[in-house]
Amino acid sequence: MAETWQFKRHRRLRSSTAMRSLVRENNLTMDDFIYPLFIMEGEGIKNEVPSMPGVYQISLDYLKEEAEELLSLGIRAVMLFGVPGDKDEQGSGAFADSGIVQQATRLIKKEAPELLVVADTCLCEYTSHGHCGVIHNHDVDNDESLKLLAKTAVSQAEAGADIIAPSNMMDGFVAVIRQALDEAGYKNIPIMSYAVKYASAYYGPFRDAADSTPQFGDRKTYQMDPANRREALREAATDVEEGADFLIVKPAMSFLDIVRDVRNNHNTPVVAYNVSGEYSMVKAAALNGWVDEKELVLEKLTAMKRAGADLIISYFAKDVAKWL
Ligand code: PBG
Ligand code: ZN
Repeated sequence: MAETWQFKRHRRLRSSTAMRSLVRENNLTMDDFIYPLFIMEGEGIKNEVPSMPGVYQISLDYLKEEAEELLSLGIRAVMLFGVPGDKDEQGSGAFADSGIVQQATRLIKKEAPELLVVADTCLCEYTSHGHCGVIHNHDVDNDESLKLLAKTAVSQAEAGADIIAPSNMMDGFVAVIRQALDEAGYKNIPIMSYAVKYASAYYGPFRDAADSTPQFGDRKTYQMDPANRREALREAATDVEEGADFLIVKPAMSFLDIVRDVRNNHNTPVVAYNVSGEYSMVKAAALNGWVDEKELVLEKLTAMKRAGADLIISYFAKDVAKWL
C-alpha cells in the first residue's frame, strides 16, 4: 500500500454540511428566477394545465393575487404569455392596445409595480395557423413578420413592460425591435433575446398551455437544429451586434454545453430557459414517487448556474422559493 502522504484527500472538504457550504461554488437565490405566467382572456379562469401540474392559465381577475403571491415568495420577475380569445392570420391580438398581455402588463404595473414584467414578443399564440410569423405561400415570411413583431414590442413597452423578450427567431428581429423601441422613445427598455432557441420536442406542454401548436408543418425553418453547436454562437453574436442586452438559451437541460459556450463568448447576462417539457418530466416522475423532487430540481437548476447561466426562467420558481 502507498504511504498515505502520496495521495490527495479530497474528502477533507466534504466532511460536514458547514464545510461543504464553505467550498460550494454555485448557489441558487430567488434573484435568479423569472416565472412564466399564462394570462387568458375571460373571467374567473384558473385552469390547471393538464400536462403541467401546478401551472395555471389565469384570467386578469386573478392576476393581482398572483402577483402578490409571487412577491411574497421573493419572485421579482414574470414572463407574460397571452392566451387570447380570438386569433387571426396576422396575430393582431399580439400588438393590439387592448391585447391580453398589454392589459396584464398595465394591471401588474398598477397593482404590483415592483414586479418586473418581461413581455414575450411573438405571434404564435395569436395567429390562427400557430406559427411565429405571417404566412405567405405556406412559408413564414421573415421580413413581413418583422414589421408585426416591432409593433408588438412597442405596444408592450407602451403598456409598461420592463423588458422585451422576442422569441420568434426571425432573422433581424433584435435589430428591428431595437430600432422601433428607440424611435418610439423607449431607448432604456432592454431586450432579452431568445438568441439561441432550438426546435425542440420539449415545448409540447407549453403549446397546450399557450394554445400555440402550429396547425401545419413545424418550426424547423426558423428555430435551430438541436444538432448544432457553432451555429448557436453565430446566433448569439448576431443578436449582441443588433443590440440584445440579455441572451437566452432554450431549452436548458439538454443544452448546457451551449449555455457554457455563450457564457464564454459574451459578457451579457445569460439566461437559461428551463422549458415546459423539462418541468413536466420531473413532475410526472415526482407524482409517481419515482424521484426526490426537491433534490432533483435543485440539482438541475444549480447545474444551469454551473454551466454559466446568470438567470433561469422556470416553472419551478415557486417550488424553489418554498424550498430555499
Ligand atoms: C414560441 C415559444 C415557445 C416557448 C415559448 N415561446 C416554443 C414553441 O412553441 O416553439 C416554449 C416554452 C416552454 O416550452 O416552456 N414563441
Ligand atoms: Zn412563437
